Amino acid sequence: MTETSARFERTLVTAALPYANGEIHLGHLAGAYLPADIYARYLRLRGRPVLFICGTDEYGVPITLAAERQGVSPKELVDRNYVSIRASFAGLGIEFDNFSQTSRPIHAETSQSFFRDLHAQGRLKQKTTQQFYSPSQQRFLADRYIEGTCPHCERDGARGDQCETCGRSLNPTDLIDPHDALKGEPLELRETTHWFLPLGDWQPQLESFIGAHPEWKENVLQFCRAWFKDGLDDRAVTRDIDWGVPVPLPDHAGKVLYVWFDAPIGYISSTREWAIEQGDPEAWRVWWQDPTTRLVHFIGKDNVVFHALMFPAMLLAHSEPFILPDNVPANEFLNLEGRKLSTSRGFAVWLPDYLAKFKPDPLRYAMARNLPETRDMNFTWEGFLARNDNELGNNFGNLFNRVLTFIHKYFDGAVPAWSPDELQDADRAVLAEVAALRDRWAEHLERFEIKAAMECAFAAGQAGNRYFDEAAPFNTRKTDLARCGQSLGVSVQIVRQLCAMLAPVVPFGMARLWGWLGMETPLFHGGWDEALRDVPAGRPLGRPEILFPRLDPEAIEAEVARLQRLVEDRPA
Ligand code: MF3
Ligand code: ZN
Repeated sequence: MTETSARFERTLVTAALPYANGEIHLGHLAGAYLPADIYARYLRLRGRPVLFICGTDEYGVPITLAAERQGVSPKELVDRNYVSIRASFAGLGIEFDNFSQTSRPIHAETSQSFFRDLHAQGRLKQKTTQQFYSPSQQRFLADRYIEGTCPHCERDGARGDQCETCGRSLNPTDLIDPHDALKGEPLELRETTHWFLPLGDWQPQLESFIGAHPEWKENVLQFCRAWFKDGLDDRAVTRDIDWGVPVPLPDHAGKVLYVWFDAPIGYISSTREWAIEQGDPEAWRVWWQDPTTRLVHFIGKDNVVFHALMFPAMLLAHSEPFILPDNVPANEFLNLEGRKLSTSRGFAVWLPDYLAKFKPDPLRYAMARNLPETRDMNFTWEGFLARNDNELGNNFGNLFNRVLTFIHKYFDGAVPAWSPDELQDADRAVLAEVAALRDRWAEHLERFEIKAAMECAFAAGQAGNRYFDEAAPFNTRKTDLARCGQSLGVSVQIVRQLCAMLAPVVPFGMARLWGWLGMETPLFHGGWDEALRDVPAGRPLGRPEILFPRLDPEAIEAEVARLQRLVEDRPA
């Protein structure tokens, strides 16, 4: 059976554009970025053409709120956060082909031309609604800037989109005594006109599009079915704020594209930016408009409606032949030490803090073993230490180290004479076991089942260690040198395959091991095929170092204690 990714000429992988209003934390990582990076690296390892696209989402109210809190302009805020988010991703080995910003001119141009296309075709409709206006500032206020008394629980300080006291979601007009949240000033209702994408018009096409993808994750399908059942509504695509892409129509001063309209177009702008950097500005088209391209959106579960319904409707509505996503793998949420993450309370682990103290591979590994693929999962620092010490160190690192060290000690650091034609039963058995695990590993990754793939890799590591113990080259070295060499040849064969299987998850360590193994193909340019070929006898091997040192339990306790203090300071 042809693997899914091989049925297409190329794969465009996107990861949800993170808001540029703060740092990336473990929750973001588990939701979209790590799985997307593992999948993109998997494809590169297999030698399949892939483009991995992302950038920061820089418009909208969360940005202006954060900028106001910090007393800087929105542009200063997003530029600053862009730099640090990009550095965090690089530090963790999340390797995009392009990482752009939605505040760049290329994105304004791309999203405005997208809007103009829909508008010119009559795909958008205008509606007039009543919205709160601040006479003193002469502007409309976004929902979150409006405060008042909650009509349900009667507490003050409910926001125009939600009451934090009782948790109910609200419309600004539901509030009693609505006023400006920042200045306390009274507001008045005024008429305003906006453009809407009538999603209902696209419901039949969206239903058949989703219906053609029974292979999607159940959480995503359920979500879509629920939306279809309620019936899709008109969705506003413009807003009355001043931080955004201006609506490209006459007489629309002060109106911008709604951030959930412009942001997904950011994937296209980022691809265009990449194409320009390649010196071939039109090269983006093949990735977005050629049906032999496969589009995959990695997101967290709170983004499903935008990626499975809204953006596809936008792509369908455009006059050019855009492809639709072939899959939208959405993850559930990650909890931390048994509690919900809370960025406002600081109850989270941010990447810059993590990277200041620890290496990227152990976190990537621990998270890949524990991803919220089908239900919410829990990250604990103790679990992180155990994954590193017991699994990366004792299972994988141990095997790599024993095999390479032994060959250095007794065979001058070159693969001993061995022959795939002279295998004994034990050799054949372990190679068959590893081959079967390797195939299952690939099948799981093709289906975005990273945890299941990692279980296969782990089992292959155990099989390799068991084989080494039983073949006992440390004994046969004295009794049967040919047999000793043979079992080491088989061991190196296993190590090469394990290196490839682990590479998407722990790329830093595996790049070093790949070098020590003297492999000729670059690991992430089709290294897989070479890993499966027979190890040539006589191949010189590099001297191994410890790839995955044990973690310091005191450093781990300090992290647990930091989170514990946050919980005690402000009990939930
Ligand atoms: N910034 C959004 C979030 O973090 C995701 C935007 S995804 C995009 O939830 F497709 F709209 F870009
Ligand atoms: Zn309330």
